[in-house]
Amino acid sequence: MMKKYVVATAFLLGFIGILFLAAQYLGVQPGRLNYEYFPDMARNFAYKAQTPNPFFRNGRTEQEPVEGTIARGFMPLHYGLSEEEAKRAGRELQNPFRTDSTANVERGKWVFQTYCGDCHGAAGDGKGLVVQHGYPAQPSLLLENARNMEDGRMFYIITYGFKNMPAYGSQVANNDRWYVINFIRQLQENQQ
Ligand code: HEC
Repeated sequence: MMKKYVVATAFLLGFIGILFLAAQYLGVQPGRLNYEYFPDMARNFAYKAQTPNPFFRNGRTEQEPVEGTIARGFMPLHYGLSEEEAKRAGRELQNPFRTDSTANVERGKWVFQTYCGDCHGAAGDGKGLVVQHGYPAQPSLLLENARNMEDGRMFYIITYGFKNMPAYGSQVANNDRWYVINFIRQLQENQQ
């Protein structure tokens, strides 16, 4: 009985030994890549973003969009910096998410807390942290002026800035600007 086990174990060890030697012979190394059938797929000639590129006349890999084209989901805005232009935005730009179920006030709240609350205060009352440390005071967003302001004008203010307020167009995405406006409207409604 005992002998059977000894023989079985010896066979097993021998087998493992053979596997080990075979692996050594075949040169199998876990850290090394095996044979590549289509090396072009892993190592192609594509240029990485922001690297020089000799194929284009301007020597850049990233090219400007063709004139007159608009990226999907991107809304072009053609406004200058003046009170007149802010008024025009107020007349022309419509909030696409104002009243329907996609208003996404929750997202707007996050945007407000992230980008606006430091100045305007978490409740929109204008008593944000930076104001308490000397930043020019701003009107409460709960007052008549902001209540009566068109969504389009608010969108303009967020995008381009306004007097002492810096522009947030590059930080706050298009839809997020409308969502944050919806959140401000909710703050105003809760204050009545
Ligand atoms: C760095 C501080 C700062 C941040 C951040 C900021 N604002 Fe302002 N905001 C101001 C100041 C200052 C004014 C007043 C501008 C003036 O009249 O000089 C203002 C004005 C406004 C007004 C016009 C209010 C009125 O009654 O005229 C709106 C609307 C507004 N901000 C929305 C926002 C939103 C939305 C965000 C976040 C995306 C934001 N702001 C972020 C400082 C800021």
